[in-house]
Amino acid sequence: MTHHEVEKYRKPTRVLHWIHSGAFVLLFITGLILFIPGLSFLAEDSWTRLIHRIGAAIFIIIPIIYLIINPKAVGRGLKEAFTWNLEEDMGWLKAIPTYYFRGDEKGMPPQGAMNTGQRLWWFIVVVFGIIFVITGAIMWFAKTSVSPAVLQWMVFVHDISFIVTGAMFFVHIYNGVFHPTFTEAWSAITGGKVSTEYAKKHHGKWYAEVTKGKEQA
Ligand code: HEM
Ligand code: HEM
Repeated sequence: MTHHEVEKYRKPTRVLHWIHSGAFVLLFITGLILFIPGLSFLAEDSWTRLIHRIGAAIFIIIPIIYLIINPKAVGRGLKEAFTWNLEEDMGWLKAIPTYYFRGDEKGMPPQGAMNTGQRLWWFIVVVFGIIFVITGAIMWFAKTSVSPAVLQWMVFVHDISFIVTGAMFFVHIYNGVFHPTFTEAWSAITGGKVSTEYAKKHHGKWYAEVTKGKEQA
């Protein structure tokens, strides 16, 4: 790392992000096949159900591994995702139209390692991840022991989670890969680093903390 770059994601975090994303994509595609009646012919022989269950196991194991190898980072992420600061987050909300659509960061209050939108994605992933696991486990292991009405509710809530996370997933990909403002998001999650200019511009609060010698994300 040169002095013109700062580390945003360590290697294990990046590797886990990509394995977890792979599991999510498997779950999303096989879920879509189960969700859309017209695609049911693709679910013949139940291979989609099997892949969905393999995806679910990976989707659950990865955050547990992350918690074991880097409990501090998980704690920090959870704290950020569940601590909302009315003044700061309202500042982000007010500035976001010009920042997002015109790339003008002047009115944007300095953001941490994750801006308010990224923290919202963490929040959605954690909350709906838990809902997926609970409703999915009931459909998987308790199909015959719960009443048909309960099972129906589990399918409904699982489907709502699918729609919410699915929609946000596409926003996440767009922001991370194609959005003209977040030019170094992709290099952050692949190579781990961003330039000091990018860090200052988009994550000013975090940059100030890092340069004071505090720990990186
Ligand atoms: C992470 C833990 C998860 C578990 C344990 C789980 C488990 C299940 C199970 C057992 C079913 C029923 C399949 C069958 O008919 O045999 C199911 C259906 C489904 N899952 Fe998941 N799943 C999980 C995550 C996800 C995720 C992340 C998505 C999407 C992004 C997803 C989307 C769906 C959809 C759309 C259906 C079809 C529901 C319907 O019939 O309308 N699941 N899941
Ligand atoms: C498969 C397509 C995906 C792509 C292309 C992608 C891309 C990215 C990029 C570029 C970043 C770095 C953003 C930055 O630091 O500026 C990132 C971070 C992150 N990703 Fe993904 N990701 C994908 C899937 C997922 C999935 C499925 C999840 C959750 C289940 C996820 C959760 C996160 C989280 C929590 C962060 C940190 C907070 C944030 O920057 O939003 N990603 N991703």
